Amino acid sequence: MRGRLLQFVVGVLLVAQAAVVSLHAQPQAELIADRVVRFWDIDVRTTDLEPSVALVHPFPGIAPAPADFPLEPIFFETDEGEEGFVIEIEPGTSLYGTGEVAGPLLRNGRVIDCWNYDAYGYGDSTPHLYQSHPWVLAVRPDGSAFGVLAETTWRIRVDLASAIEMISDGPDFSVIVIDRDSPQEVVIALAELTGTIEMPPKWAIGYHQCRYSYFPDSRVMEVAKGFRERGIPADVIWMDIDYMDGYRVFTFDPSGFRSPRYLIGQLAEIGFRNVWMLDPGIKVDDEYSIYTSGLQKNVWVKKAASNDDYVGQVWPGDCVFPDFTNRTVRQWWGGLVRGFVRLGIDGVWNDMNEPAVFGVESKTMPLDNVHRADEDLGGQGPHAKYHNIYGMQMVRATREGFMTAYPNRRPFVLSRANFIGGQRYAATWSGDNTADWYHLESSVPMVINLGLSGNPFSGPDIGGFAGNGDGEMFARWMGVGAMMPFARGHTGKGNIDKEPWSFGPEVEATCRRALERRYRLLPYFYTLFHEAHVSGMPIIRPLFFLDPADPALRSEDDAFLLGGDLLVVPALTPNRDRRPALPADFATAWRPFGFGDLDDPDLPELYLRAGSIVPSGPVLQYTGEKFLDPLTLLVALDEDGTAIGTLYEDFGDGWEFRDGEYRLTTFSAVKEGASVVVRAINREGRWTAPTRAVRVRLIMPDGRELTGTGHANEDIVIGLE
Ligand code: NOJ
Repeated sequence: MRGRLLQFVVGVLLVAQAAVVSLHAQPQAELIADRVVRFWDIDVRTTDLEPSVALVHPFPGIAPAPADFPLEPIFFETDEGEEGFVIEIEPGTSLYGTGEVAGPLLRNGRVIDCWNYDAYGYGDSTPHLYQSHPWVLAVRPDGSAFGVLAETTWRIRVDLASAIEMISDGPDFSVIVIDRDSPQEVVIALAELTGTIEMPPKWAIGYHQCRYSYFPDSRVMEVAKGFRERGIPADVIWMDIDYMDGYRVFTFDPSGFRSPRYLIGQLAEIGFRNVWMLDPGIKVDDEYSIYTSGLQKNVWVKKAASNDDYVGQVWPGDCVFPDFTNRTVRQWWGGLVRGFVRLGIDGVWNDMNEPAVFGVESKTMPLDNVHRADEDLGGQGPHAKYHNIYGMQMVRATREGFMTAYPNRRPFVLSRANFIGGQRYAATWSGDNTADWYHLESSVPMVINLGLSGNPFSGPDIGGFAGNGDGEMFARWMGVGAMMPFARGHTGKGNIDKEPWSFGPEVEATCRRALERRYRLLPYFYTLFHEAHVSGMPIIRPLFFLDPADPALRSEDDAFLLGGDLLVVPALTPNRDRRPALPADFATAWRPFGFGDLDDPDLPELYLRAGSIVPSGPVLQYTGEKFLDPLTLLVALDEDGTAIGTLYEDFGDGWEFRDGEYRLTTFSAVKEGASVVVRAINREGRWTAPTRAVRVRLIMPDGRELTGTGHANEDIVIGLE
């Protein structure tokens, strides 16, 4: 076994710092998928291991672990009785993943505490944010890669000081190691284990406008109309907690939101979707039907000593908390969600679900509180065991509730807390960031690392949640944020207005251009969401994906890839004084292009990969405004004079695509003599695309742009003279 001796020695040295009592070489191991091995400690029975919550299904062993598998964790126990393991890394190995974390893309040298936490005002060294991903992606010097997943929901410290070491507060757990030839293949293998995102409704990949809070309903309408009046594209407006009656979830403030159904109708008339917040804390109030119903059904998390309902403070004052780890409770919640969304609600925002509790040092409930969890989650147990999956099980329940209300619609749920694998239920955002340049900059690596940890659908609060910031920063943030998978402007209570027009005409113009770009690129974004749904490939990707063996790209997080074919280079510092490391073949392999917006210095530079075809469309004010017509193919030939690309289309909602009602078109461009011929070379699926014009923008190596026009079913020929 490769490096076993070295691994053992390194293990001894490293864990010695953690005051190790016993070090256990030669763990038990079984193959659970091709080049994926589950390990567990030598003296532990499989029945004593924690059940897997992250995985889509249990993945039983299929064969003994192969003798030549190149990695092996060494399990150990500290003198405080904590269980841990260590895996050596070769010098020159770069570490990523660990989910939602602040700080740079490269995680070497970092310590991450997997513990869901209400991290308002977090910074670079904050040990834990809102979600937990006990997962590390390691890229070796030669560009091959492996991934390490700890199978525990308990608090676990991931120490990447000089190896991959994890120490848990909980009992023995198993470790899954994926070995692959590239980091991309590791991320895909992770998705095979933990699942992919479901296709979102198309409107959810448009722009979202939020604040804490738009109040009352007339202000909601005013903001929504503000977009339409100014011709700034947007799809969704959000209702934060103040819509509720005294912060009681599933109620509406009678003075501010008298008729949610009417508001929703008014919004729909101008093409706006709506998302409403639901928090887990239920106000203790005998007059409140949700409280009394939960009481009657006995759904609340219990205190350890007395078995009484646990009460903690959140927005409404004294609250009880549904025990989402229990199926019956999830069904109860799902029933409430069902009634709620039937008002015409399009999407649900689950916040504060770490769960956050006010006025206590831990910022959450006592660790010995009791959950009556389903057997397959691990059965009855303490909050310490279920804390990290509380939010995940909440969004699971919310999603299921939406599905019972609208079986033929795709749910959109946004969650602040989550756990690895939770991408199956909800998208996420970066929590309470701050309106400063640090948070603008660090939103890029955070979203990339989430994608490398299984959740490709995320984005920051554009403009920053805490504090005001200025117009220059806001404009730049909109430029970058519009290229992120989840694009939502949001800000905290008491802050200045932060709609795209709030900082004056220049910033408004940049925001309009930024969002017009997003909407022009919707066909590409949607195709990338489909790819993420099918394979787990992230929507935005690190530059090192271009050449995993190139050390110069390993720590680069000032630029990112949007899918495989676009390179986005924003200016993330006030003085624009940093240029990212770019791939060695940058000058020949990437072509700068824009949408007539290149003279706006606040927008990121965009580059198209030579050899690719990216589908785009006209500017829309919202995703459902009209069908894609004309389709504009952005084409850049490689040195062989060819290019290829795909376009995924379907109804934009519903599940018919699962039965073949979609169209995946492959386009090719080939240089033939003095012309370039662009044509659809393959069509998959039964969905019929509307008859439409097709335009081609051929971006030449010398910066010239040639164009051609035709129809969907014919070759488009562009002369090169
Ligand atoms: C905390 C969330 O992180 C923030 O986005 C939201 O606006 C507030 N809670 C109020 O609901």
